[in-house]
Amino acid sequence: MSFSLESIGIKAGGKYETIYTTMNKAGEMDAAPIGLKCLDDYAVLARIFEGSKTLENIKETGIFVVNITSDPSVFARSLYGNLEPDEFVKDDDIVYMKNADAYFIALVKSIEDKEIGKDHVNDGAKFSIVNAESIKIIINKPGTKALNRGIFAFLESLVDYSRIDIIDDEKKDEYIKKFKENERLIDVVAEDDVKEAMKDLKERLIEKGVEL
Ligand SMILES: Cc1cc2nc3c(=O)[nH]c(=O)nc-3n(C[C@H](O)[C@H](O)[C@H](O)COP(=O)(O)O)c2cc1C
Repeated sequence: MSFSLESIGIKAGGKYETIYTTMNKAGEMDAAPIGLKCLDDYAVLARIFEGSKTLENIKETGIFVVNITSDPSVFARSLYGNLEPDEFVKDDDIVYMKNADAYFIALVKSIEDKEIGKDHVNDGAKFSIVNAESIKIIINKPGTKALNRGIFAFLESLVDYSRIDIIDDEKKDEYIKKFKENERLIDVVAEDDVKEAMKDLKERLIEKGVEL
């Protein structure tokens, strides 16, 4: 049976936080937290900065695995260094996380090297846009949903909204800054329903006299 990406909560237009597992031709395994943009039921896009093993391996082999997990230790350890060898499973030309809630194999369709113009963090950095297609999805934990930061940013703003009538002006300025950052993030990563909810929240804050 062939699942679409929606079966693991990955919807067109959304950007998800996942763990990519890759191998070089010598069979050395790597795991790293990398975002994933969903284009449609099977097409995905990654923006990966130069200098990462992930990009090097993807360029070398044309294949990678996107692992879905919400384990904070996996995100942290794969960023600070690498996962332990026994946390990987090698299967022919791919490698995946043994404890992934779900994973899919992505076959590279195209890679475009680019340089950043204006960015909110790293002007001038080199990166590649990797277009790929999911060819096989494995669900180990039924009901798995890939992490999307949009809902958390929205909840932060919603909690602030619930306190807006009881805070002083200094705190209000802080909340406005946070709201704007959450709004920026939601615009980039969130699914449509979260974008809609954030728009409605903004209108409610404006009605309360908050200058946004
Ligand atoms: C949640 C999260 C998401 C990330 N997303 C990306 C991304 O989309 N593209 C990227 O180039 N780096 C991203 N990073 C940074 C990489 O994980 C980092 O550069 C890492 O060191 C690359 O490891 P590697 O050399 O093993 O590939 C992200 C980091 C975190 C914590």
